[in-house]
Amino acid sequence: MFVTKTLSAGSKREQYRELAEQLASLFEDETDGLANAANMSALLWEALPELNWCGFYFCRASELVLGPFQGKVACVRIALGRGVCGTAAEERKTVVVPDVHAFPGHIACDSASRSEIVVPLLSARALLGVLDLDSPRAGRFDAEDAAGLEAAVALLLARSDFARLTG
Ligand code: SME
Repeated sequence: MFVTKTLSAGSKREQYRELAEQLASLFEDETDGLANAANMSALLWEALPELNWCGFYFCRASELVLGPFQGKVACVRIALGRGVCGTAAEERKTVVVPDVHAFPGHIACDSASRSEIVVPLLSARALLGVLDLDSPRAGRFDAEDAAGLEAAVALLLARSDFARLTG
C-alpha cells in the first residue's frame, strides 16, 4: 500500500523535492497515463496545503476535457485560449494567477477559489493537457510552486503513456 508521507516543515523547494521522490515511487511500476494522473492528483491533494481543487484536463482536438481530479465537480470542456487553463494550454507555459478575480475570462468552477496555477503537459512541444491547482487563499502559488509542479509534471510525462487519452 502506498502511504503519502507528510512533507517536512522545510522550504518549499525541499518539500517539492520530497514530493518528487514520492511521485517517482508512485509511478515506478505503472505507465498507464490515466492511472498515473489519477494517483498524482490524489497525492498532490493530500500533500499540498491550502488547495480546493487539483486535477487534469486533457487535450482533445481544440479543447481541454476534464480528467482525474480532487475537489468539487468541475466544468468539463474548456476551449483553448479560454480561462486560465485554456490560456496556459494555448501559450504552452505555466500561468500563476494570484487573484482569480483579476484574471479576465477566469472560469469559476468553485466560488471558493481565490488563486490558481496551471502547468501545461508538453511532450516534445505537443500539448497533451494541463495540470490545474486552485486555492482558497489569494497569492497561494509562486515561482517555487511553478518550478516544483513543472518538475512533478515532467516526472509524470517521463513515466506515462498518454496515447489513448489525447487526440
Ligand atoms: N478556473 C479554471 C477552470 C477550471 S477549474 O478551476 C477546475 C480556468 O479558468 O480555466
